[in-house]
Amino acid sequence: MLSSAFQFVLISLYLTSTLAASDFDWQTLTADTTLNWKPCYSGFQCSRLQVPLDYSEPNSGSASIAIVRLPSTAPRTEYRGPILFNPGGPGGSGVDAIVAAGAAFATVFGPEFDIVGFDPRGVSYSTPQISFFKTDVERRFLIPFKEIVIYPSLNASSNAVSKTFGDFGLLGQLALQSDTDHYLQHMSTDNIARDMLRITQAFGFEKVQYWGISYGSVLGATFATLFPDKIGRLMIDGVEDMDSYYTANVTNLTIDVDASLQAFFDGCEKAGPDICPFYAPSPLEIAAKLDALTTSIKEQPLPVVMPDSHGIVDFLFLRNAILYSLFSPYDPVVGFVSLGQSLAALAEGNATTLYTMIAEPSFECQASPPPFHLNNFEAYIAIACGDPEPINDTVAQLEEFWMNGTRVSQFSDLFSVTRVLCAGYKIHRQGRFQGPVGAKNTSFPLLLVGNTLDSATARAGALKTSKAFPGSVVLTQDSVGHTSTVAPSLCTYGHFRAYFMNGTLPAPGTVCPVDAELFPSASGNITSRRLPSVEEKRLLDAGREISSVLRRAVPRRAL
Ligand SMILES: *[C@@H]1O[C@H](CO)[C@@H](O)[C@H](O)[C@H]1NC(C)=O
Ligand SMILES: *[C@@H]1O[C@H](CO)[C@@H](O)[C@H](O)[C@H]1NC(C)=O
Ligand SMILES: *[C@@H]1O[C@H](CO)[C@@H](O)[C@H](O)[C@H]1NC(C)=O
Ligand SMILES: *[C@@H]1O[C@H](CO)[C@@H](O)[C@H](O)[C@H]1NC(C)=O
Ligand SMILES: *[C@@H]1O[C@H](CO)[C@@H](O)[C@H](O)[C@H]1NC(C)=O
Ligand SMILES: *[C@@H]1O[C@H](CO)[C@@H](O)[C@H](O)[C@H]1NC(C)=O
Ligand SMILES: *[C@@H]1O[C@H](CO)[C@@H](O)[C@H](O)[C@H]1NC(C)=O
Ligand SMILES: *[C@@H]1O[C@H](CO)[C@@H](O)[C@H](O)[C@H]1NC(C)=O
Ligand SMILES: *[C@@H]1O[C@H](CO)[C@@H](O)[C@H](O)[C@H]1NC(C)=O
Repeated sequence: MLSSAFQFVLISLYLTSTLAASDFDWQTLTADTTLNWKPCYSGFQCSRLQVPLDYSEPNSGSASIAIVRLPSTAPRTEYRGPILFNPGGPGGSGVDAIVAAGAAFATVFGPEFDIVGFDPRGVSYSTPQISFFKTDVERRFLIPFKEIVIYPSLNASSNAVSKTFGDFGLLGQLALQSDTDHYLQHMSTDNIARDMLRITQAFGFEKVQYWGISYGSVLGATFATLFPDKIGRLMIDGVEDMDSYYTANVTNLTIDVDASLQAFFDGCEKAGPDICPFYAPSPLEIAAKLDALTTSIKEQPLPVVMPDSHGIVDFLFLRNAILYSLFSPYDPVVGFVSLGQSLAALAEGNATTLYTMIAEPSFECQASPPPFHLNNFEAYIAIACGDPEPINDTVAQLEEFWMNGTRVSQFSDLFSVTRVLCAGYKIHRQGRFQGPVGAKNTSFPLLLVGNTLDSATARAGALKTSKAFPGSVVLTQDSVGHTSTVAPSLCTYGHFRAYFMNGTLPAPGTVCPVDAELFPSASGNITSRRLPSVEEKRLLDAGREISSVLRRAVPRRAL
């Protein structure tokens, strides 16, 4: 259900199960106003920081922020402090992301930094945990597991808008009912930004060093607006149109989605039928094949039964699988190569390949469910819908919003769900920050990163946001997909490290190639480039690790 327009990110169940083995009991830590580190996971340190729940009434209650760090391994004299990371969502767990990808991040940024993940207030291990339900079973019924992976489509049936409106209206009312102590209004981006300053100060630093992707760009830009003189380094990547976020109007985020799909058609045609079995002699014919396939699946869905999972490949599943591939087109599991194979198999009547691309474990109703720390769906709603003005649209207006959006992208049926979601949510704090973002003079210039074709946060968002922060620079990565993390790039990493280590910004107009191909040749060789050095190979491996982990560990789309 969550389609949010801003950052869809997806918490992967694979990741969850991997983490379970080395899971850490956060309840063994007591929240404090200083950081008291305890060893956790493997090679990490964990701490819980106590912050005011309401910054305007600091004594009226507190929140506790779960923080994990991979400590710097450089000699003390070379130590450069923490780099805070936010993986997007909103509602993505920075702890999970850093536990999974921290080592790879350290390879990219260098041993001088602590690599730090935190769960934004309300999210995952941070408390009070955002929760709309009385029991886990109620949650599982009202937010079917598949809703974390498969977002509704307003085009799934003729009454899809009103059905989605009803479902989300119910969730919004349950949120209200559950919010007896009125904590939900404090789960807002401005407060998360204030928490970031507290975290930085608790490390003993005055100025923030930060990397945020997708919704993390909203958090970063909001921080820079509220605290322009507290910026050490601030890099935002997969940058949203901030006005769009703060008005729950996703349309501007989608301006490059169709061009990303076109990149699939073009690449498939160039790659040929051996590498892209969904091939046709021209991109136009491939597009037509996909339209025909979509219509046929809409009329006649296909069941899939596997030993440990089962489901239906229908219109909704297919649309989500395509969008998922557009978010991570270089990925070995869900990227364009897989998509080409899966669509070809589907056209032959075999839905298994497509199903396994984004399949999820079957629902299990356990007698005593594990602690549900993956609350990213509810967290998404509370933050992404609590930040903007209340959306009072009627079903007819939402229908019109979706239709208007189709002029910008044919995926408006998925993205516009965010606005429907927000129409159901009624909790908004008076006086919260709602934009516009910008600051005439930041204590250090911002670095913004945008892909040539970002399928969830078009590069226009980076260009527009950069104008609001004079002195900032936009680094373009020549890739398709959502955020620079979709593919390794030695060029991009060189600029990241130069910015964080030396404070060097790329020259305006810099464009970095990626060290990956959408349709690699069968040999797996990137033929046009020389063999990488040992150091380059280490960075490329780290980059592939980051892509793979963030695809699985983090929320999926921008709101
Ligand atoms: C979308 O982008 C256009 C062009 O930059 C701008 O005029 C418009 O205000 C934006 N819409 C929203 C809701 O931010
Ligand atoms: C949403 O933004 C788009 C692009 O700026 C604009 O055309 C549209 O009118 C906006 N819709 C609403 C409901 O504000
Ligand atoms: C809804 O889906 C059908 C079938 O794929 C498609 O032909 C139609 O264009 C879609 N409508 C919108 C508004 O996206
Ligand atoms: C469908 O594809 C899957 C995966 O490629 C394969 O294992 C299976 O045998 C195929 N099923 C049929 C009926 O061809
Ligand atoms: C929606 O309704 C609320 C309460 O009546 C009002 O405060 C708010 O301004 C309205 N939102 C918009 C976007 O008109
Ligand atoms: C849809 O677009 C029309 C024409 O641009 C505009 O008048 C109307 O306000 C838009 N509706 C919504 C709900 O965005
Ligand atoms: C910007 O702020 C810095 C201190 O943060 C100050 O030294 C500088 O003079 C300011 N520049 C302008 C143009 O205001
Ligand atoms: C930082 O600057 C030093 C001195 O100019 C230089 O040797 C080094 O390569 C730079 N490091 C990066 C990552 O750019
Ligand atoms: C990749 O290219 C290199 C250099 O051209 C060649 O030596 C190697 O055999 C190729 N690898 C494969 C798997 O084709």
